[in-house]
Amino acid sequence: MPPPRFQALLLVALVAILTLALNGPPSTADLPTYESVAEAVKNPHLPDVGSLPAVPNPFGPAAHKPPNPAAQPNSTVASAYGKLAWLTDFKWRNPFSSSITLDENTALLPPLRERPPIYTYYNARKKQAKEVAEAENRLVLAWRRAWWAQGFRPVVLSRKEAEHHPHYQLFQRMELDSKVEVDMMRWLAWANMRGGILANSLALPMAEYENPMLAFLRRQEYPQLSRVEGLDSGIFFGDQAAVEGALKKLVNCPLLKNMTANKDKIAATAAKDGGAVVNLLAPADIAKDTNANGIAYYSTAVITSSYKTVADTLTNTTQAEGLDLLSSLVNSHLHLTFQELHPEGLAIAQPLPEHTTSLIEPSIDIARNLTQCPASPMPKSCPPNRPKCVPCSTKNSPKLQLFPEFVNTTKFFTVGTVPHPYTINSLHYTRNNLDVSFLRNNAKRDLWLNTLTQKSIGTGHSESYRLLQFKELVAANPAHSLWLTAERTSKDDLDWIFGFELPTAASKTREPTSPSEKSELIVFPRPAFPEPVKGIEVPDSIWTEKEKGRLNKARDAIKSKDRFTQGIVDAVEQWNLADTEAWKFARAYSARRRVERKKWEEEEGKYAGSEKKASGKGRWTDRFVL
Ligand SMILES: *[C@@H]1O[C@H](CO)[C@@H](O)[C@H](O)[C@H]1NC(C)=O
Ligand SMILES: *[C@@H]1O[C@H](CO)[C@@H](O)[C@H](O)[C@H]1NC(C)=O
Ligand SMILES: *[C@@H]1O[C@H](CO)[C@@H](O)[C@H](O)[C@H]1NC(C)=O
Ligand SMILES: *[C@@H]1O[C@H](CO)[C@@H](O)[C@H](O)[C@H]1NC(C)=O
Ligand SMILES: *[C@@H]1O[C@H](CO)[C@@H](O)[C@H](O)[C@H]1NC(C)=O
Repeated sequence: MPPPRFQALLLVALVAILTLALNGPPSTADLPTYESVAEAVKNPHLPDVGSLPAVPNPFGPAAHKPPNPAAQPNSTVASAYGKLAWLTDFKWRNPFSSSITLDENTALLPPLRERPPIYTYYNARKKQAKEVAEAENRLVLAWRRAWWAQGFRPVVLSRKEAEHHPHYQLFQRMELDSKVEVDMMRWLAWANMRGGILANSLALPMAEYENPMLAFLRRQEYPQLSRVEGLDSGIFFGDQAAVEGALKKLVNCPLLKNMTANKDKIAATAAKDGGAVVNLLAPADIAKDTNANGIAYYSTAVITSSYKTVADTLTNTTQAEGLDLLSSLVNSHLHLTFQELHPEGLAIAQPLPEHTTSLIEPSIDIARNLTQCPASPMPKSCPPNRPKCVPCSTKNSPKLQLFPEFVNTTKFFTVGTVPHPYTINSLHYTRNNLDVSFLRNNAKRDLWLNTLTQKSIGTGHSESYRLLQFKELVAANPAHSLWLTAERTSKDDLDWIFGFELPTAASKTREPTSPSEKSELIVFPRPAFPEPVKGIEVPDSIWTEKEKGRLNKARDAIKSKDRFTQGIVDAVEQWNLADTEAWKFARAYSARRRVERKKWEEEEGKYAGSEKKASGKGRWTDRFVL
C-alpha cells in the first residue's frame, strides 16, 4: 500500500486523466478556411480557441491504418437478372470471356486500376451546431467524390492518425498556437500514413483526366517533398522518407527551441503562404512545383476575393448556409469543367431508333441533367484554376443529340444503353414473344452491336473485332462514354463516376430562377428533350405505351425461372453471341465499379465526409427543390 500522500496524488492524477478523456481533445479550428472566411469578412477579432494538452478521445473514430496495396477480388453479386460474376485478368482483351473463364455467366474484366491514396485532414470541433457539422461533411464528401472520379483513393484523416506518430507527444507538449498546432497535426497524420499526397479539403481536381499534374500524382513517385506555386497549402506530395525527413528538421527548428521567446514569431507562420510547417522549415526543404493548373483551391483568400456572395454568407449566424453555398459553387465548377471538356455536348447512342424510345429513356434523363447548367450562387463565376472559362448559360448550354450509331470522338460524351438481345429483338421486330423459328427465319444476328459500330468501324470487320472495340470503349480511361444496362445505375453511382452531383432540380420557367426569395442559389431550366434521330418517324404515344409493355415483358422473360422461357432466352443468346457478350461485359463492368465504391464507402463510413456523415445529403438538394 503506498503512503496516503501518494494515494491522494494518484487520485488527483486519475481525475485529471478521466476529465480529459471524457471531454476529448480541445476544439481545434482544423478547417481554417471556412472559419477564417467568416473571421476575415465579418468578425476580424474573433479570439483563438484556447489550447489544452490533448489526450486521445476514446469515443472518436478509429485511426486509418497505413495503406496496403489492395488485392483485387474476383467477385459475384446477386442481381435480378441472375447471378452476376466476374473475373479479373490481364487477358481480358478477348472477344469472348468464356474462352478464359470457362463459364458462360462469368465476365472477364480488366484489372482494377490502382488508386493512389490522397489524404486530407479534418477534425470536427466538439461544440458545433449540427447543421454546420453536416454542411462541413458535405464539403468533405464533395472532395472525396471529385478525387475518386479522377482515379484516387481519398482518405480523410483526423487527429487520431496524428496520435499514432512517434513525434506526437513531442509536439503536444509544445503548447503551440492553435492554428500552428492544427498544421503540425495535419503533417503528423500524413506522415503516419507514410506520406503520399496531402490536400486541403477545399483543393479539388478540375481538369481532364490526363492533366499532367493529375497524371503525375497518379504515378506515386514523389521522392522530393513538394508543394505547388500559387496553391498555398492546398497540396503537398512526398514519399515517406521525404515527409519524415521534413518532420525531423521541424523538430530541430531553431524557433521551436525557445517557445516563450518566439511565441509571436511561431504564431505568425500559420498565416504565411504554405502554412506553419512550411514556414518553420527552410525554403529549400520543400520544393515548389510551378507547372500545375489541374487543381482548384478555394482558399480563404480566393473565396473572399473572387466569390463574394459565398464569403458574405459565411457569417457565424449563417455559417451552414454559407458552407452549403460553397458546396454548390464547388459542385457547379466541377460540372462546368465536365461540360467544357466535351465541347460538342452530349450524344446518346440509339441504334435501331424506330422502336427504342422507352429503352433509352434513362439515358435521356441522365444526359439532360448533364447538359443542364449547374445550380450555383454565382453562375457567371469560373473555377479558381481556370479564370478564363466559359460559364454555362441558357444561351450556350451544351448540346444534346441522338445518333443512330456510336460517334467516335472524345468531343462528345456518349451515353448508351446496352440491351439484352432478347429485349432489342422484341422491340425492334415489335413482337411480344420470340420463338426459335422466328429467330431462324427473320432475325438478323447481333443486330445491336453491328448497328452501333456500323459507321465508326465500317464494314468488313468481324463481330469479334467489333466486340473488342466495344469492350475497350466501356473500360476506357479516361471514359468519354457511359454504358447503362438493365442493371440500374443509381444516382449515387453517377455522382461518383462524374465526381459531382448531377442536378436534380430545375427552374420552372425558361429563365434561371432562385428556389426561394431568400435563397442565393440560382437554378437553371431543364434542357428540352433531344430531337429524334433524323429521318425517323416520331412514334405516337400509343406506340410508346406498347413499347413500354414490350420492354417490361422482355425484362420478365430474361429474369424468368420458367424452363420454357429460359430455353427461348438461351436460344436468343446463342443466336446473338456478340450482343450477349457486350451486354454481359457492360453490366459486369458497371456492377464491379459499384461494388468497388460501395465497399470503400462502407470502410470509410465512420470517418468524416462519408455519405452517412453528410446525412443531410438529400437535404441540401431538397433545399433547392422548387
Ligand atoms: C481470380 O481468378 C483468377 C482465375 O481463376 C485467379 O488466377 C486469381 O488468383 C483470382 N484472384 C483473386 C484475388 O482471387
Ligand atoms: C528563451 O528566451 C528568453 C528571452 O530571450 C531567455 O530569457 C531564456 O533564457 C531563453 N530560454 C532558453 C531555454 O534558451
Ligand atoms: C457571432 O459573433 C458575434 C460577434 O463576435 C457574437 O456576439 C455572437 O454571439 C456570435 N453568434 C453566434 C451564434 O455565435
Ligand atoms: C474509335 O477510333 C479509334 C481510333 O481511330 C479506333 O481505334 C477505335 O476502334 C474506334 N472505336 C470504335 C468503337 O469505333
Ligand atoms: C435528373 O433531373 C430530374 C429533375 O430535373 C430528376 O427528377 C432526376 O432524378 C435526375 N436524374 C438523375 C439521374 O440525376
